[in-house]
Amino acid sequence: MDSSVFVLFGATGDLAHRKLFPALYNLHLEGKLPCGFAIVGLGRKPFSEEQFRGRVKEALARFSRRGADDSAAQAEFLRLVHYQILEADRAEDYKRLLDRVEGLERQAGIPGNRLFYLSVSPDWFASIARLLKESGLTGGPGWKRLAVEKPFGRDLASARELNRSLLEAFPAEDIRYVDHYLGKPMVQNLQAFISANPVLKAVLNNRYVANVQITASETLGVGERAGYYDRAGAVRDMFQNHMLQLLMMTAMHSDVYDKQRILESAIPIQAQDAANFVVRGQYGPGELEGRKVPGYLDEPGVAAGSRTDTFFAARLELDDPVWGGVPFFIRTGKRMSEKSTRIIVEFRDPLEKYSHGEPKRNYLAVRIQPEESVELQLNLTGADGGAAETRLRYSIPEGELPEAYERLLHDALSGDASFFAKWPEIEASWRWLAPILEAFEDDRVPLHVYAAGTDGPEAANRLLERYGFKWL
Ligand code: BG6
Repeated sequence: MDSSVFVLFGATGDLAHRKLFPALYNLHLEGKLPCGFAIVGLGRKPFSEEQFRGRVKEALARFSRRGADDSAAQAEFLRLVHYQILEADRAEDYKRLLDRVEGLERQAGIPGNRLFYLSVSPDWFASIARLLKESGLTGGPGWKRLAVEKPFGRDLASARELNRSLLEAFPAEDIRYVDHYLGKPMVQNLQAFISANPVLKAVLNNRYVANVQITASETLGVGERAGYYDRAGAVRDMFQNHMLQLLMMTAMHSDVYDKQRILESAIPIQAQDAANFVVRGQYGPGELEGRKVPGYLDEPGVAAGSRTDTFFAARLELDDPVWGGVPFFIRTGKRMSEKSTRIIVEFRDPLEKYSHGEPKRNYLAVRIQPEESVELQLNLTGADGGAAETRLRYSIPEGELPEAYERLLHDALSGDASFFAKWPEIEASWRWLAPILEAFEDDRVPLHVYAAGTDGPEAANRLLERYGFKWL
């Protein structure tokens, strides 16, 4: 891998602390960082380099999947970490940053390759990209890449505007739109899983599949993030990005580059019909893991009488020769009964009838988290001559697979763009959602309250029952 400098905006933030530094550390332990490498953390807080390294060390101890200790390897990693104060809109700070980065490059023999990673509010993206360019940080020899975290816009127009501003500073091929679900090993696995197994490829189509269900449920509530979440809701926070990426990864036929066509083939839902195809919900008070939890409206920072969705489900169909006619049911919600991300393909009714004991519909389940497994349900004939259900299942041992951000940071540094969202996908996702967001705004879709700790509103069950299905 090319030697490079990793410039991290938002280095004192939550994501950096919980995910990015632990991921970089694990890459270091596995010898997967470039041999010439430096990390420059940027933030507004006045930390000295030593203080900042102390914070990073704490983050490793708490959040690295390998834990952390006082090993030589850890000390070596911490020596790669630097800190600089930066106000995102202050041009002089970027001049100082340039000096700093050039100094580190000289010291470590790094030929000007730089990855700028924006783990800050998107409100800052445009000005950061502009000042990176104006200060000369994006010039000179070596590659320069920009990685941005979601949310990317809040509708089609704002996403386009944001993208235009990034493109003024970086060519399209050097921008990485991070969707951390694409870094999850079982999500990455979907591609090979389908294309390397002709036995699956042969049946994953509208001839054999009755419906596809994609679920990402969380037990967490909005936590401390109401300032952001109350303006986003589940539809923008999870559905526009992670859930639609899962849809594309499930439905693509050949390779990752086919993904965007999947989403472009999603049949539009008109605003006036939205209530028939989508369900929005908001959690009320309830009980989770034996303790009482407040409803969304009582969470700190949520606007009085907020109509923000914390649950969103949709029925989608693709206008596509392989999948046409197969309903895709997708749901995501906070404060649900369990943390689970999974994709379940339910096959059509069995052709054979048994004399007794109805055979079940076969299904294929890919569990993405917390358990990482694949499972296939089959029917056998039992001792009494009736249908007997059996399940073939393989679970990947816990801790064996890397964390999403390890793969993503490695790919961003090495230049592999396969598992990042692509701009046309982002555009297609906002385009498909536009009439639905409009219907939400005009209050044409009822907001169902569900008790925290349940599986979401009853209306989400009816969405499937209408077609003779149930959530699996
Ligand atoms: C983030 C959302 O993108 O994904 C959060 O902003 C959500 O609201 C999180 O909790 C879920 O990620 P994971 O990896 O825990 O499923």
